[in-house]
Amino acid sequence: MVPQGIAERARVLRDLVNYHNYRYYVLDSPEIPDKEYDRLFRELQELEAAHPELLTPDSPTQRVGAPPLSEFAQVAHRQPMLSLNNAFDEAEVSAFDRRVREAAGRDDIEYEVDPKFDGLAISLTFENGVFTQGATRGDGYTGEDVTQNLRTVSAIPLRIAADKPPKLLEVRGEVLMLHKDFEALNAAQRAKGEKTFANPRNAAAGSLRQLDSRITASRKLTFFAYGVGEVEGWTLPKKFSDILLQLKAWHFPVAAESEVVHGVDGLLKYFHRLGEKRDKLPFDIDGVVYKVNDLRLQTELGYVSRAPRFAIAHKYPAQEEITQVLDIDVQVGRTGAITPVARLAPVFVGGVTVTNATLHNEDEVRRKDVRIGDWVSVRRAGDVIPEVVAVMHERRPKDAREFVMPKKCPVCGSHVVREEGEAVARCTGGLYCPAQRKQALLHFASRRALDIEGLGEKIVDQLVDNGIVHNPAGLYKLDMAKVANLERMAEKSATNLLAAIEKSRGTTLARFIYALGIRNVGEATAKDLARHFGSLDALMAADEEALMQVPDVGPVVAQSIAQFFAEQHNREVIEQLRAAGVHWPESAPQRKAESGALAGKTLVLTGTLPNMTRDEARGRIEAAGGKVAGSVSKKTDYVVAGADAGSKLTKAQELGVTILDEEALLRLLEPEAQGKLDF
Ligand code: IVH
Repeated sequence: MVPQGIAERARVLRDLVNYHNYRYYVLDSPEIPDKEYDRLFRELQELEAAHPELLTPDSPTQRVGAPPLSEFAQVAHRQPMLSLNNAFDEAEVSAFDRRVREAAGRDDIEYEVDPKFDGLAISLTFENGVFTQGATRGDGYTGEDVTQNLRTVSAIPLRIAADKPPKLLEVRGEVLMLHKDFEALNAAQRAKGEKTFANPRNAAAGSLRQLDSRITASRKLTFFAYGVGEVEGWTLPKKFSDILLQLKAWHFPVAAESEVVHGVDGLLKYFHRLGEKRDKLPFDIDGVVYKVNDLRLQTELGYVSRAPRFAIAHKYPAQEEITQVLDIDVQVGRTGAITPVARLAPVFVGGVTVTNATLHNEDEVRRKDVRIGDWVSVRRAGDVIPEVVAVMHERRPKDAREFVMPKKCPVCGSHVVREEGEAVARCTGGLYCPAQRKQALLHFASRRALDIEGLGEKIVDQLVDNGIVHNPAGLYKLDMAKVANLERMAEKSATNLLAAIEKSRGTTLARFIYALGIRNVGEATAKDLARHFGSLDALMAADEEALMQVPDVGPVVAQSIAQFFAEQHNREVIEQLRAAGVHWPESAPQRKAESGALAGKTLVLTGTLPNMTRDEARGRIEAAGGKVAGSVSKKTDYVVAGADAGSKLTKAQELGVTILDEEALLRLLEPEAQGKLDF
C-alpha cells in the first residue's frame, strides 16, 4: 500500500500539471514559468516511478508516447461521424436557410457558426471523465484507434475538468498543426534530409497516423472541439452553442471564432468577416460551418443520406489546387536574377485564375523535381505570388521533360552566370538588358523610392521597347509630345504622369540611394548609408573599408556598393539625374551612437509585444544605438518575439539567435531599471 500522503501528493501533482498544461496549451496564458512546470512534472514522474500503482491513465506523464504498435486496432464509433454538405456560393447558403425556415415554420433562425478546420476529424471517448479512447473518422462508422497518439496532444484534456463528469462522453473535433509548428517541422525535416510535408493538413495526418506514438509526441499537434457524439449521464442543453460552452468549461479547446448569429445575413457577414482574417489565423481553415442552434430543431431536420440537414459547410476558394505544368521558362528581374516560372494550365485558386507560379531558382526546381508535363499542387494565399508546393510524382507522364537553365538571357542574349555559393543565376547584361532596364525603371519609380505615381508596367514597357527612355534620367526628359503618343494614354493621365515626374525631383538622399537599385541595398541599408555619409558624394567616394563602418554593412554589401559606383555608366546616370534637377537636402554625417546600451547590435522584431507598439520598440532600440533589421540572419544579435510570432522566430531558433521577450528587451535597454518593470 502506498502511504496516504504520497497518494494524495500524486493526485495534487496530476491536477496541478494538468491545470498548467491547460493554461499553456488551451488558453495560451501560462501562469508559472516553464522551469516551475518542469519541476512539478518531474516530481510526479519520480513518484510514479517509485510507486507504479499510482500511475493513472489520465496522468500527464503519459503524454510522451508508448512503444510502437504493429497496426492500429479498429474502433466502431458509438455515433457515426458524418460529413457535411457544402455550399460554394451565397445562393446555396440562402437555399439552405430557406429549407431550415420552412421546416421550422418561422423566419428568425439562430445559427451557431464556426471555422471549418482543415485538419483531421477525430472522436475522443471519456468514461467517467477519463480519456479512454481516441479514434480517426475512418469511413464514418469505423475508425482507427489512435489513443496513444492523441494522448501526446497537449491541448486534449486527459480528464474532464468537472467534479461530476458525464458517465460517457464522445467529443468530436479536429486535430491540426499550427502554421508555426508546420514551418518548424519542415525546417527540421529538411535539416535531417528527410521528406517535407506539402501542407499543415498532411503534416498533421502524417503525424497522427504513426504507429510509434513517440514520433507523434515529437510533433506539435493541436486540437479544437466542435461537437459531441454519444452522451450518457449529462442532460444536453437546449442550444448547440451551450454544448460548446460546456466543453470549454470542461477545459476542451473551442475556437475563439465560434459565434451565434441570426438569419442568412448573419451567416454571410460571418463568412466575409472570417474570410478577411483567414490569412492571419494561426491555422488553415477551408470554410465556415453553419449549424442550427436549436437542438430540437436539429433533431426535427434530421439527416439525408450521410449528412445533416441542420448544418452546412460554406467553403472559401481553395488556396491549393492541382494543375499541369505546360512549360517552364524564365523571368529576368531588376538585378538580372533569372527566375524559373512554371506556366500552368489555368486553375482557379485562392479566388483568382492562376496561370504562372514561381519556382524560385534552379535548386528549387531540382529539389521539388518539377518537370514540364507534371501535375503539381499550386498554392496561392492572400496576395502572395502563387507557388508550386509539390509534384504528384505518381501522375508523371512518360514524356515529362526536365527544365534546363538557359545559358543566354532570353531577353537580351547576354551570358547567364551563377556564381559560386549563390542560389540565383543572373543575366550579365546589366542595363543593356531591356528586361533589367524595365525593372530598374519600375523600381526607381516605386512608392518607397522616388514615388512616381502612374508609371506602371504597361507604360514602362512602351518607353523601353520604343527606345524613348533608356535609364531613369530619361524620365526627366519626357514631354507631352512623347507621353501622349503612348498607347492607351489619355491627355489627363499624360498630364498627371508628367506632374508626378516633376514632383519626384525633390526627394531624400535615402530614397535616392534606394532608388538606384544597388544589389543588396534595401530600404533600411539605404537609410543607414544616407545617415552615415550625409551626402551622395561622400558615399560615392567611400571604399569598401569605409562602407563597412556602417552598422550592418558587411563585406558582401560593401562590395556591391563599391562595384556599383565604380561603374562609369552608373556615375553618368547619376550625373544626368542631378543635372535634370533631382535634389535632396544633404546633411553632416551622423555616425551611430556608439555608447548606447545596444550600440552595434542588430535586433529583429516579430509578433505583438504586450505593452509596446512595434514603432515604439524600434524607437527605443535605435535610441540605444541598436539597429532594427527586417529579417533574421546569422548577424542578428537578438530576436524580440511577442505573441503570434511567425517564421522569424523559427528562423532564430534554427540559427540559435538569442530570443528576447519584451521584459528581457526592457532589461537590456535599461540595465539600471532591473526589477522595476511596471507600466
Ligand atoms: S461539424 C455532422 N464543425 O468537416 C457532421 N465539422 O465535412 C458535423 N470539420 O469530417 C461536423 N471543422 O472533420 C464540424 N467546425 C466544424 C468543422 C467540421 C471541420 C470537418 C469535420 C468533418 C467534415 C465534414
